[in-house]
Amino acid sequence: MNPIASESPQRFLTGITTTGTPHLGNFVGSIRPSVAASLLPGVQSFYFLADYHALIKCGDPARIQRSTLEIAASWLAAGLDPERVVFYRQSDIPEIPELTWLLTCVTGKGVLNRAHAYKASVDKNETSGNDPDADVTAGLFMYPVLMGADILLFKAHKVPVGRDQIQHIEMARDMALRFNHLYGEHLALPEAQIEESVALLPGLDGRKMSKSYDNTIPLFAPREQLRKLIAGIVTDSRVPGQAKDAEGSAIFQIYRAFASESETTALRQAYADGIAWSDAKQMVFERIEREVAPMRDRYHGLIADPRQIEAMLQAGAAKARTVATPFLKELRYAVGLRHLESATSFGAKVKTLKSAAPAFKQYREKDGLFYFKLLGADTRLLLQSRGFESPREAALAIGLLQKEGKTALAELQEKIERLDGILESELNDALNSFAPAGS
Ligand code: TRP
Repeated sequence: MNPIASESPQRFLTGITTTGTPHLGNFVGSIRPSVAASLLPGVQSFYFLADYHALIKCGDPARIQRSTLEIAASWLAAGLDPERVVFYRQSDIPEIPELTWLLTCVTGKGVLNRAHAYKASVDKNETSGNDPDADVTAGLFMYPVLMGADILLFKAHKVPVGRDQIQHIEMARDMALRFNHLYGEHLALPEAQIEESVALLPGLDGRKMSKSYDNTIPLFAPREQLRKLIAGIVTDSRVPGQAKDAEGSAIFQIYRAFASESETTALRQAYADGIAWSDAKQMVFERIEREVAPMRDRYHGLIADPRQIEAMLQAGAAKARTVATPFLKELRYAVGLRHLESATSFGAKVKTLKSAAPAFKQYREKDGLFYFKLLGADTRLLLQSRGFESPREAALAIGLLQKEGKTALAELQEKIERLDGILESELNDALNSFAPAGS
């Protein structure tokens, strides 16, 4: 089946940054649910290796290349079917950096100033008394725009990500809104899909398993190394025979991420009965080994034959570009990057630029409530409502703001969020533009 040709209502897209070796936390939190989701009927999946993003964090070329191979092999070993899924490498799609530029030109610098990762670097510099931008690359600053291009290029509806990425998806939505407002409805609005049931896996020291804490267990560590690493997971000092707390135990959490419900219940009981830590660790090791061993064999087979993976990625890129290439052509045209003779051949199909005036936009959110926002003539977000129970209530509030401007603003203050950096005068001018002529 060609996954692109089929009319599918839901398109899922996600990327993994190619900077490291996949660990058990990546498997449980991302690889395993992504592969499972790709097998659902009626779903199109676009999964890619985010190697342009990797350049932002990593200046070691050999490591980028190696990580790209390892992550691709991990996904395939875990059961990803490249016939069913569009599986590609970001840097094989030249339309991505090209769209990045188009989006860069509709993204407020102030919006990027607020991105968590960039802000964290700046805050760190400030607390240590450095220049705020010391060691901050423009790549880090632009990270959300590149990610927006990844998502918007393929009109993804759902983007499965960890909580730390929600802000990026919201930014991508805002880029799409702004682009569409300026150039007509071209881009689809993506939503983050947070897998609530996927618990964060603890690492060797009990904190979240993460490369940045150096507490990971590699997904395909050789059997004996896996056993040793599991033996090294932190426990408390309770002795065999003493009852142990399951919920607070990293060993238990890791076991649960692999075990069935009845296996988990059995281990919980064993904790209550005072199982020795060494026995609990042996159980965890055996359970993980059972699941991982067949994948590990496939993984090593794949790693040994990079040519095969390279060919798969090339085929995936070709498939992805059957979507990306014509779409980018449409977008280039929309923004005015046009063949000089093209006015007559294309002109009729394209919506004319909306006249630049402030506008209210009403919409419904996933929480089921009704919202509106006020966009300025330059499409900047000036005002954001809170949720209303019904579209009528939202519309009434808009009506009031349009009629009474500033006065209504004071009346509605409970229902409206004021935004940083928006001047009172800008807001008043925008609201006044709705007042009936002559009033
Ligand atoms: N930023 C993501 C991460 O670090 C990786 C990523 C890049 C991504 N582009 C994406 C995820 C597009 C989802 C969609 O986890």
